[in-house]
This record gives sequence, C-alpha cells and structure tokens, in this order.
Amino acid sequence: MQDIPSKSEKMSTHQATEDQRNEEILIYLNGQIVPKAQATVSVYDSGFMLGDGVWEGLRLYNGTWAFIDEHLDRLFEAAKAIDLDIGLDRDGVKQAVLDTQKANEMTTDAHARLMITRGVKTRPFQHPSLSQQGPTMVIIMEHSKPNLPRPIRLATVPHLRGLPMTQDPKLNSHSKLNCILACIAAEKAGADEGLMLDVNGFVNTTNACNFFIVRRGAVWTSTGDYCMNGITRQKVIDLCRANDIPVFERNYSLVDTYGADEAFLTGTFGAQTPVGDIDGRQIGSGEMGPVTERIRGLYKAMIEAECA
Ligand SMILES: Cc1ncc(COP(=O)(O)O)c(C=O)c1O
Repeated sequence: MQDIPSKSEKMSTHQATEDQRNEEILIYLNGQIVPKAQATVSVYDSGFMLGDGVWEGLRLYNGTWAFIDEHLDRLFEAAKAIDLDIGLDRDGVKQAVLDTQKANEMTTDAHARLMITRGVKTRPFQHPSLSQQGPTMVIIMEHSKPNLPRPIRLATVPHLRGLPMTQDPKLNSHSKLNCILACIAAEKAGADEGLMLDVNGFVNTTNACNFFIVRRGAVWTSTGDYCMNGITRQKVIDLCRANDIPVFERNYSLVDTYGADEAFLTGTFGAQTPVGDIDGRQIGSGEMGPVTERIRGLYKAMIEAECA
C-alpha cells in the first residue's frame, strides 16, 4: 500500500510515478529522432531566449492520442496568432507524433509535450525577423502515470489572468512567467498550485489547469474568458450536458468557491483532479466528492470509447 503523505508534503498537479524508462527515451528534434542526451537546441533559439513559441500537451491511451484533432486545431490557431509558420501541415505534425511514439515503442500511459518555437536567431535580440532558419520543433514523449496521493491544495495568488490585448491567456505560449509566478506564490503560501482571479476579481483558473466547483449538484466553471481553452474543460462541460448534470459557465467569487461542496481541476495530464483545500478552507469533506467521482468515471468511459 502507498504511504499517504502529510498535508504539508509538497506535491504538484503534474506528478507522475517514477519510471526509469524515461532516462532512455528518444526525442523528436527538427525531423530527427535522437537520444535524450543529444536533444539540445541552440542558445540562440527564440524559445530559450524569449519564450517565443507555442506548445501542446497530449496523452496516449491504448495506442491512440486522445482528442488529437482538437490539439492540432489549437496548435495551428496559436501558431497563426503569433504569426509562426510551423513548417509542416497537420498530417506532418501528426506523423511526427506517431513516429516519435513508434521509436519509443509506447502504447499507452504516455504524455507528449509538442513544442514549436520561431527558431534560431542570427543575433541575440527580440525582433522576430532575426529567426531566419525556420522553426524549431521538439516532441518530448515520456512514460507517464499520474500519481497524486492526496487532493490538491490551492492558494489564491495576486497574479491575475490578464486581458486578451496584453498576452491573451488563451495562448499556450512558451512564456509562462505569469503562471510560474502564480505557482511560486502558491507554494510559498504552503499550497500546491495557484488559484488565479480574472481582472474583475472573479475566480478564473489555476496556473496550470482549468478550475471547477460543484454547488448543490451543479457544476460551475468560469465564463471561459481569461483562461486556457482547455480541451479537458470542454469535454467535462460536454459530458455534464449529455448526462443531465447542470453545468454553468459563469462568473463567481471566492465566497461561492469557499462554500462549494466540491472543487476539481481539469487538464490533459490529470483528467480531473480533486481539490481538498483553498486558502486554508477545507472544501466539502476535503476528499474527492461524488460529482467529481461521477465526472471522472464518465471521462474515463469517454477515453475508452475514443481510444479503443
Ligand atoms: C494554463 C493552463 N490551463 C489549463 C490547461 C489544460 O488544458 P487541456 O485540458 O487542454 O490540457 C493547460 C494545459 O495546457 C494550461 O497550460
């Protein structure tokens, strides 16, 4: 049996079981598939230098990359928004994922981080025209089984989800500093992840996942403004609608949140992750609640049907 760590033990929402095979993985780097130790990019790369790129996180279940079309839609939309030519079409990107999977002989429980930057610059300055060698594309694919021994603890942080005209929080951009600062603030407050408010003070999302509460059997999440347009978030909303679970995309405050019966996070990595504590207030029983459990079951069945 697994030891249950104390509440003060550090944990992250993207925690996975240790897997020694990840020391030997092969990584996709600009059309080549190379050993991890050789998978390096230039110090002139715009992703390293400026966070100038976009990325996607994908998950492999039973030989199928779940919701890959939605991930590719979001990737190409983000690349278009930052005026980045990926250099491959959708089939090309999909093939790169499949080739990396095959090279690593992965069949299930794998997670891919697909990253595309504006590429190597000729000089170490910001102007995008200095990236003249084409984009840098990397796929890191790891054996990965989420391993979260207790519900997540959140702390509200001062870092806001900004307005779309600053750096649209819908962009899965390489520059995640706002979210990283939110996570650091949460850790310093003794929590695992930061709960971020929008510019009007309504509860929006966490630094790495989408956020839901359950009140009197109804599921609430933010309006969708200011947060990542999470694929898992949308699947949960769709599943609620299809299964007569009342679901609302609406504004709500910390008062509604502290008083919720349940809270949970969504993301490709962890699917639905229960939240036990927010700003020192226990949420419901402090353990996974029945609505969260039901949605997790529905999502698992959806994955089994999608990735048969
Ligand atoms: C800030 C943030 N919120 C939410 C998510 C979850 O999105 P998805 O469900 O598409 O994995 C991500 C994942 O990329 C994210 O970076």
